[in-house]
Amino acid sequence: MEKKSFGAAGETIIIEEFLTGEEISILSITDGQTIVVLEPSQDHKRAFDNDQGPNTGGMGAYSPPPFLKPKLMNQIIREILVPTIHAMKRMNRPYRGVLYAGLILTPTGPKVLEFNVRFGDPETQPLMIRLKSDLVPLLLAATEGRLEKSNVKVEWTPQTSVCVVMASGGYPGSYQKGLPIKGLNNANQTKTATVFHAGTALKGSEIITTGGRVLGITALGQDIKQARQHAYELIKKISWDGAFYRNDIGMKALNR
Ligand code: GLY
Repeated sequence: MEKKSFGAAGETIIIEEFLTGEEISILSITDGQTIVVLEPSQDHKRAFDNDQGPNTGGMGAYSPPPFLKPKLMNQIIREILVPTIHAMKRMNRPYRGVLYAGLILTPTGPKVLEFNVRFGDPETQPLMIRLKSDLVPLLLAATEGRLEKSNVKVEWTPQTSVCVVMASGGYPGSYQKGLPIKGLNNANQTKTATVFHAGTALKGSEIITTGGRVLGITALGQDIKQARQHAYELIKKISWDGAFYRNDIGMKALNR
């Protein structure tokens, strides 16, 4: 402040409450009036194991977090999601689409860190692999403002899912692009896992890297342990120069 390094922007300080607790992501779909809350998930924002290293867009996620009990989920819906949707309606700006609430479960209750008006990445991958019903009628009913009337079914498998992001060496800093990815054919041979492509492209007959977060290796299991096992078994078959991933996705569910 003394050196005025940030110019006028450095003249004011905002002191905020320091929030501690588990971070969770609650995605919901709304037509501006009715809310369909999707299953909860937990992202892993830091680049390396044990939440070390720089922040990223997300290095992996799992669903559902076992510590998010129905009572707490209902509190989140009642105190956060419903008032938010209704406030936008009252302001004559009804919102239709995905409302993503990034929350932190503090000792004094759930608090909002951020809202996004889109699906979360990588939270959506573990949700999609658990979704048994068709997503399209749900999205259509939301865009056409008939979520309440159309009674669209949303069915989930009770199984647990884990998505581990494979990233380019150097991410979230600078990284090389255009590297051929090996072993993707193995990915088609397993019924318990799906590979979601994020930063890839087809070049001739090869699939190459084009981004920082390249693949989301997503697997189901009877529990978090088995889902992790399925995801990491598949990850070991896929490679490119410099690829890296976190080894501890979902461990927060196991360690609690
Ligand atoms: N995973 C964080 C986000 O989608 O913003």
